[in-house]
Amino acid sequence: MAVKYELIKQCSKTGARAGKLHTPHGTFDTPIFMPVGTQATVKSMSPDELKDMGAGIILSNTYHLFLRPGHSLVKEAGGLHKFMNWDRGILTDSGGFQVFSLGDLRKITEEGVTFRSHIDGSKQFLSPERATEVQMALGADIIMAFDECVPYPADYDYAKKSTERTTRWAQRCKNTLTREDQALFGIVQGGMYKDLRSMSVHDLVKMDFPGYAVGGLSVGEPKDLMYEILEHTVCQLPANKPRYLMGVGTPDCLVEGVLHGIDMFDCVFPTRVARNGTAMTAKGRLVIKNAEYAHDFRPIDEECDCYACRNFSRAYIRHLMRTDEIFGLRLMTTHNLYFLINFMKKMREAILEDSFVEFRSAFIANYKK
Ligand code: GUN
Ligand code: ZN
Repeated sequence: MAVKYELIKQCSKTGARAGKLHTPHGTFDTPIFMPVGTQATVKSMSPDELKDMGAGIILSNTYHLFLRPGHSLVKEAGGLHKFMNWDRGILTDSGGFQVFSLGDLRKITEEGVTFRSHIDGSKQFLSPERATEVQMALGADIIMAFDECVPYPADYDYAKKSTERTTRWAQRCKNTLTREDQALFGIVQGGMYKDLRSMSVHDLVKMDFPGYAVGGLSVGEPKDLMYEILEHTVCQLPANKPRYLMGVGTPDCLVEGVLHGIDMFDCVFPTRVARNGTAMTAKGRLVIKNAEYAHDFRPIDEECDCYACRNFSRAYIRHLMRTDEIFGLRLMTTHNLYFLINFMKKMREAILEDSFVEFRSAFIANYKK
């Protein structure tokens, strides 16, 4: 099997767990945060910089690489790892989510999705078979089933039909995959309906995927509802397989995800907000362009020892951001990614010491949303 999950420690009081994920490109401690590199690059960061901050696995996107530069070119380069010179783990999302975000530009049938490229307006088609073939050409360690992310809100009937179709699509992805060095994860959907979530888990688990993602969350629903659906879903997933919560990456959601037994997360949030000047800390967000930091010569986060915090002040980074200097984006991105990777490490250590409940209480007491 391409990817193997090893459970190291189960929290005695919550669903939280510490483990290891073995892949063809190395072994990574879980729970883990995966930086997003949509276009085969984590914006503004070199692979060496990502390694220095401890990144083990990154996420890239089928949809974007399929349209540009095209999966054939990436394959010609020797696969995504070689193309971007990244020798640790890669996970590619299937394109489902991105295609469905196009709104009016797309049409769904049982066969697949027809859509117009956001780049040149050309007509394109992705199906479970196509998305899997593209992901085989890209060559990521973990590839995702082609799914529909049920929008929020969605009526029961639509959510049910969509979820059943996603399950049929997952089987078609599985039938298409021929590479043995890639692990295909199934994606649980079901909207905000518990019985549909249970149905989705049940049907996917029967297909015996090497890992399972929880999709269709963090799509605009209230956080309490998200946590409720998450708990209901995760506790039905097999304990010996990795669990991935898609599109979640704020500290409060990461803590709740880990609490319920999630092992993997990804989100554009830390890198995107970094580029518009928001730093993440254990106390909450810090908007670096604010006037209050003009004469503040402390680091972004006094508890952080990332490259940015060891060497530069809030006042300096504020100046770089206000003058649109590229170095400002790089320092902000470095900090946010380092912060999140380290945050996951701290959660893992707490789980190993069986003090995750205390970690969570201390976090909640300190964190301003
Ligand atoms: N990213 C965030 N949510 C989802 C989802 O539901 N499906 C996929 N494929 N990607 C996602
Ligand atoms: Zn820092």
